[in-house]
Amino acid sequence: MRHFITTQDWTQAELQGLLDDARWLKRSRFEPQLAGRSIALLFFNPSLRTRSSFELGIKQMGGHALVLEPGKGAWPIEFEDQVVMDQDAEEHIAEVARVLSRYCDLIAVRAFPKFKDWSVDRQDKVIKQVAKYAEVPVINLETITHPCQELAHMLALQERLGVDSPEGLKGKKYLLTWTYHPKGLNTAVANSSLQIATKFGMDVTLLCPEPIYHLDEQYFAAAADNIANNGGSFNVSYDIDSAYAGADVVYCKSWGAIPYFGNWDAEKPIREQYKHFIVDERKMALTNGAVFSHCLPVRRNVKVTDGVIDSPNSMVIDEAENRLHVQKALMHQLLWKYR
Ligand code: CP
Repeated sequence: MRHFITTQDWTQAELQGLLDDARWLKRSRFEPQLAGRSIALLFFNPSLRTRSSFELGIKQMGGHALVLEPGKGAWPIEFEDQVVMDQDAEEHIAEVARVLSRYCDLIAVRAFPKFKDWSVDRQDKVIKQVAKYAEVPVINLETITHPCQELAHMLALQERLGVDSPEGLKGKKYLLTWTYHPKGLNTAVANSSLQIATKFGMDVTLLCPEPIYHLDEQYFAAAADNIANNGGSFNVSYDIDSAYAGADVVYCKSWGAIPYFGNWDAEKPIREQYKHFIVDERKMALTNGAVFSHCLPVRRNVKVTDGVIDSPNSMVIDEAENRLHVQKALMHQLLWKYR
């Protein structure tokens, strides 16, 4: 049995295999390959794209999605083992995961960090506990990484750059840029962007205002591993113009500074200085005609100008569409290829 919790557990060839199947499914939308199958979607946080694309995706393949919001229509769940459950949780993940495994063929989970203590959140305990007790494959719908977004992003990138293999991405300059947002946000998509771009051997630059915005060391280590296995390079820059110069891809995301994790009021005066990290036409003009993307949802004219997101180089809608196709490929492979 195979889970899809992080792309670091999957080889480049296996991930490319998912993208290849997704290309086929994009052309053949209504193949009933999952007739009679079902997926439980556990949402601890809001969603537009993830929920819609999974619900519609399995339906298009003849299956059914069961959407559950624990604590809101389903019982609140305890994830710690060996605790006295005298607080809010009514049941333990040990029962939830095994019961859902008897009803459904797949379990998928969205559980953002609690934003109290990064040393706890960085362990990704919620989804690991689901995987520990589940008797069916588990899919990450975004925790401290967002692997389904990675697949959709990479498929859109390959489509835009006119390539259908990792070899076509060699030598491409990939810029992941921090941008301002009024709130301290999850690092998940930035962690994922770094993982997938290095997994596919690109020359990756992480642009951020200062070292407090570095991603957790486990993602820098993942990038180093990926480069060792797949080629490419990784560096960090604090200089906007040189980071944008010659870029083939610009991916933007905002995230909170980890040293201030959950203490966003203290971080606020720092981030307020960096509104100029917005992706705009002047910066994009420094690139090699780069494609632009963002995972969505995005705040226009805060993270990116209307001119950039509405330009022909923007692939935000293509990437969002591809969530549907890559997740269909993923559900099918988890149930047929890896069982
Ligand atoms: N990109 C993404 O996961 O969107 P949602 O939060 O709307 O699911």
